[in-house]
Amino acid sequence: MAMSKTRILAIESSCDETAAAVVADGREVLSNIIYSQIDLHALFGGVVPEIASRKHIEKINPVISAALEQAECTLHDMDAVAVTYGPGLVGPLLVGVAEAKAIAFAAGLPLIGVHHIHGHICANYIEHPDLEPPFLSLVVSGGHTHLVKVREHGVYEVIGRTRDDAAGEAFDKVARAIGLGYPGGPKIDEAARRGNSSAIEFPKAKVGGSEYDFSFSGLKSAVLNYINHAEMKGEQVDRNDLAASFQKAVVDVLTEHAVMAVRQYGAHDLALAGGVASNSALRAGMASACEREGVRFYCPSPVYCTDNAAMIGVAAYHEYLKGRFADYTLNAVPNLAM
Ligand code: KG4
Ligand code: ZN
Repeated sequence: MAMSKTRILAIESSCDETAAAVVADGREVLSNIIYSQIDLHALFGGVVPEIASRKHIEKINPVISAALEQAECTLHDMDAVAVTYGPGLVGPLLVGVAEAKAIAFAAGLPLIGVHHIHGHICANYIEHPDLEPPFLSLVVSGGHTHLVKVREHGVYEVIGRTRDDAAGEAFDKVARAIGLGYPGGPKIDEAARRGNSSAIEFPKAKVGGSEYDFSFSGLKSAVLNYINHAEMKGEQVDRNDLAASFQKAVVDVLTEHAVMAVRQYGAHDLALAGGVASNSALRAGMASACEREGVRFYCPSPVYCTDNAAMIGVAAYHEYLKGRFADYTLNAVPNLAM
């Protein structure tokens, strides 16, 4: 008789998405429900933590019910409940952690705490059955920019990180400066399609220390200076050209660092992850760089790039296999280290 699959109910609430999913055996997504609060926060030009917490409280039960329903399961069919416990906003994280603990207790299920960034990387397993560690991963999100060596399942080594702004943060701030609104990433991506990426030469950030580290605040300042100068001279800024040129500067730096790491570590596989992995220029740039280097390139579909709970269920499966469970003292850790 075939062994039955391991089903994990996963919860994600670290920022402004209330999400729940059911994942079987760490690759098969039986359901993936995301309630996005973006419209709510767009009014304020960014995520308002207190509003996010309140909305998570309101939405978390319906989102979990919908995930179980879509998977045609009940809690009795689950083998574990998993939750993101950091990094992220403390209030939003606490909502998910408290919910997961309550479900684990009530249904007698083991509890698994998941690192949000591990989740982003693990999103790659969902649609790429051939992907197995070791591989390199570039995680680019609103809060994080990490170049990571995935040694084996559940074992990560950070080889480069941003010294200041995250890549997504730079997209959001530049978008705001040119009046594109929030969230800026997708809007810059769209505007850039109509612009000329070599119209404006922006500086490439240099950082001391680790050659794999990133810095985006200098680039952001260069963009803001460019806009100020143009305004002082009474010149009109071409938003599309500016978006395309800024985006190219970000993509170039990310790609160069990834290629450097691929060469130095002799990697055969490179996996992109995080919200900014949806960026069309970044996907194209990384794909062609990997082709030139003879390296396989992986990237999740956009729905698994942005914050979601399916990726948390995938990461949790490998914790489950290793027997790494949490107890009821599990707490939110806003600045959880990799
Ligand atoms: O991973 P994510 O959903 O949340 C965090 O964990 O931070 O990433 C959100 C970030 C935002 O900064 C958003 O502007 C950016 O991802 N983003 C993009 C694109 N889609 C989302 N950035 C550039 N191009 C995109 N197409
Ligand atoms: Zn994220």
